[in-house]
Amino acid sequence: MRPDPTPPASPTALPGYAATGRIDELRATEYRHLDTDGQVYLDYAGAGVAARAQVRAHHDRLLAGLYSNPHSENPTSVAAGSLVESARRAVLDFFRADPDEYAVIFTPNASGACRLVGEAYDFGRAAPLVLTWDNHNSVNGIREYARSARASVRYVPLNGPELRVAESALVAALDAGRRSLARRWGRPGLFAYPAQSNFSGVQHPLGWVELAHQRGYDVLLDAAAYAPTNRLDLSVVRPDFVCLSWYKLFGYPTGVGALLARRSALARLRRPWFAGGTIRAVSVQGDWHRPMDDESAFEDGTLNFLSIPDVDFGLRWLDSIGVDLVHARVGLLTEWLLERLATLRHDTGGPLVQVYGPTTGAGRGGTLTFNLRHPDGTLFDERLVAREAAAAGFSLRTGCFCNPGAAEGAFGMSRTSMRQRLLAGVDTIDQYLAALGLPTGGAVRVSFGLASIATDAERFVDFVQSTYLNRDVGADAPLPPRLRC
Ligand SMILES: Cc1ncc(COP(=O)(O)O)c(C=O)c1O
Repeated sequence: MRPDPTPPASPTALPGYAATGRIDELRATEYRHLDTDGQVYLDYAGAGVAARAQVRAHHDRLLAGLYSNPHSENPTSVAAGSLVESARRAVLDFFRADPDEYAVIFTPNASGACRLVGEAYDFGRAAPLVLTWDNHNSVNGIREYARSARASVRYVPLNGPELRVAESALVAALDAGRRSLARRWGRPGLFAYPAQSNFSGVQHPLGWVELAHQRGYDVLLDAAAYAPTNRLDLSVVRPDFVCLSWYKLFGYPTGVGALLARRSALARLRRPWFAGGTIRAVSVQGDWHRPMDDESAFEDGTLNFLSIPDVDFGLRWLDSIGVDLVHARVGLLTEWLLERLATLRHDTGGPLVQVYGPTTGAGRGGTLTFNLRHPDGTLFDERLVAREAAAAGFSLRTGCFCNPGAAEGAFGMSRTSMRQRLLAGVDTIDQYLAALGLPTGGAVRVSFGLASIATDAERFVDFVQSTYLNRDVGADAPLPPRLRC
């Protein structure tokens, strides 16, 4: 804690900022395309940004040799296959995962990784799904697989304004109903949670992996929002499944993610189908098939063999900068922005900014979600903020960010108010929000990442202050209808 509670005018004055100066050098060189047209990029939770070196590496590789479908045995195919295998090793190295313990499955994205687990997990009456409210929809969707297998689905709520989960509530959800069926049959269930919420930035304890293991559960750790700015060491924390999208770590390539899976847990999955590349042998007339017995049993069809080698490069690139350095820079900017936003008060004395989630830097990542208030305390419509921020050149996110449970927690919505029965007859998102009596339909999210610098945060504070401070509820131009939550 700094002795003076007033935040300095610039994050550059913070102790420790100068030690992250390498990021400023990179921004001026490798990431200089971020600064064309006076734009300000504040959506790293949406997507990271690519360095010039990554784009050059892709270009150079493709022009230096020929690569073809790795399912063949010819020289161009072998060349492609060996780059894919080297990317697999790079992923294991990056996360310090023992290759005997973990397999790397390349997927189209983190959602694809979640789906692989959901559709193949052996859910049943004795094998429930337990998950926290603040999961991304790509994890929430696993509940549909669980339900169709008659498994119980138990959500663990978020608590208080910090939107965290009480460990006692988690333990209660993990233990509920297990004494009878599961213990008798010895079958685990699945516990799924985000290492970092993409809504509030809350970082949940990684120790929950072991907590759930002790109770016989498999654990799916959603690291999509966590891994870009935090070190995940799989030699220390050993979830059964980890899902990721690479573009969130280093911007490029898109269309490639991964499921890191413990081989023992992978062996218990039963895929509901097979595809090209996933089977050792198959007969049409005999109506049988034998799956591959390694990670390729989960890689449907032809891998993105021209982009997967870019993951290898991206990991080495990120390593050369240092995740810990990125973490430090993002932490400084986040704390500074939180402190500065908290100082913004209308002349009425009322706060301009209402943050959802932790208001200090402790136990959180570089994602800040909030709404802006008029002097009379009512909220600015997030669509208005989206429009005005875009016009001023800011790339940020508004809405509920595919994280309905965190939004429900932030807006204090109760289970009773959300019952489908009560909402029968509403056709549009706006009618739905009105039926719920919500003051607005979502929130504003800004997030920092690998190439963030002090002026990104400073310019955002200037924009918020000059556009919204002391601005009364006015006759704003009509806003477009909301098409999704
Ligand atoms: C925490 C979290 N999990 C999963 C996802 C899904 O990632 P993708 O859309 O790349 O599949 C996201 C995307 O924003 C996310 O933030």
